Amino acid sequence: MIESPATQLDQQMIRFPGGFRWGVATAAYQIEGAATEDGRGPSIWDTFCRTPGRVIEGHTGDVACDHYHRFRDDVKLMADLGITAYRFSVSWPRVQPAGSGPANQAGLDFYRRLVDDLRAHGIEPWLTLYHWDLPQPLEDAGGWPERDTAARFADYAMLTHDALGDRVSHWTTLNEPWCSAFLGYGSGVHAPGRQESVAAVRAGHHLMLGHGLATRALRASAPEHEVGATVNLYAVSPQTDSPGDADAARRIDGLANRFFLDPMLRGSYPTDVVDDLREVTDFAHVRDGDLAVIATPMTFLGINYYSRYVVAAPAPEGNREPYWRVPSSWPGSEQVPFVSRGVPVTDMDWEIDSAGLLETLVRVNREYTDLPLYVTENGAAFADRVVDGEVHDPERLAYIDEHLRACHEAIEAGVPLRGYFAWSLLDNFEWAWGYTKRFGLVHVDYDSQVRIPKSSAKWYAEVIRRHGLAAQ
Ligand code: FCB
Repeated sequence: MIESPATQLDQQMIRFPGGFRWGVATAAYQIEGAATEDGRGPSIWDTFCRTPGRVIEGHTGDVACDHYHRFRDDVKLMADLGITAYRFSVSWPRVQPAGSGPANQAGLDFYRRLVDDLRAHGIEPWLTLYHWDLPQPLEDAGGWPERDTAARFADYAMLTHDALGDRVSHWTTLNEPWCSAFLGYGSGVHAPGRQESVAAVRAGHHLMLGHGLATRALRASAPEHEVGATVNLYAVSPQTDSPGDADAARRIDGLANRFFLDPMLRGSYPTDVVDDLREVTDFAHVRDGDLAVIATPMTFLGINYYSRYVVAAPAPEGNREPYWRVPSSWPGSEQVPFVSRGVPVTDMDWEIDSAGLLETLVRVNREYTDLPLYVTENGAAFADRVVDGEVHDPERLAYIDEHLRACHEAIEAGVPLRGYFAWSLLDNFEWAWGYTKRFGLVHVDYDSQVRIPKSSAKWYAEVIRRHGLAAQ
């Protein structure tokens, strides 16, 4: 039989299921700028950026990509690329400057304009409530290690939902609670920059409690809306199959992944992780009923995936620093070494490992939940350069291509993966790395604010148009 050209083309394509979302993601503090405009209050990131030595070259998000003023151009850019869903975050201090009390109408109006413009261009708004910019007054009152912050978060969630719920139906409570808790309060490399192991563990709990309270309130007030959370997950492997390396992998998987997945999807902390943390905390901050709130059913789960961790057994006892002297993102497991395998890395030094994404998606589905899953962030930093008005970024293109293939394999394996959001639409303020790391599909010149879609953006637009990738 002679095949028609259309059939031949079909066979050469890896196609994604109908309705699969093709998205891009950003976060408020990383792109908006306008840090003191229209009543926005300070967040912990404004304070952190002003603390000498915390952010590379003293960079701040004061101007960033000036998206606050240029959002219409950015929405147009997305529309031109064929993006079908946009994941952005609301700046809590823009809409509720004190972290409690009255809303700032001008702040809410900004998001209303943004959302209306997205919808007018046929782009679904995916709203994240918390992408790390805690109002400074709440940190002054103790921050996430304090239980009250969870209640404040749920109030803010409802205040935002009251204003935007008529036009946004996809709601994400938290972005990457691991980072907020363990980088913010453990190693201190993120705002608010505290180095207190016990505070990190408490913060993790109260973030999840805030997520549960907000999820409960949002779902009660709008049962028709989608409500979920985004966690950052890693594939974790032992360096060898020795029992010591296996135990190190268990510990790091416990803190990075299961510390959040188990409470949110099973309603309990993993007992081995509680045990690993026994010298840090007795978990007395966990009250009766908290875990039931944390496990409030969601309607989807967002997963951010970037890399794999390979870990090994700690050095023998005598060669270790006492844990309280090591400011660490891994309380109780400070001595576990992270091993580099010498495989290709991105500009962040993160190993490129798309098999880890497949592994992670299959694991979450098999071990935890049959909820619809979304890859809510995935992407790569590379040191791009503008040459003759163009930016060629074959490494980023290859990174996304490889990870999309992993997504497709996951779908073929039965994982209900419903969409992919590339990180990020624009080059932006990469937290402690300031503007020195570029993750965008679109290049930003921070002096002129000129945007140039990189070759990866043009390629992604083609993937979207064909709803798939060429078979290899
Ligand atoms: C994730 C963050 C996001 C961005 C990427 C590179 O951890 O959610 O804001 O910084 O990493």
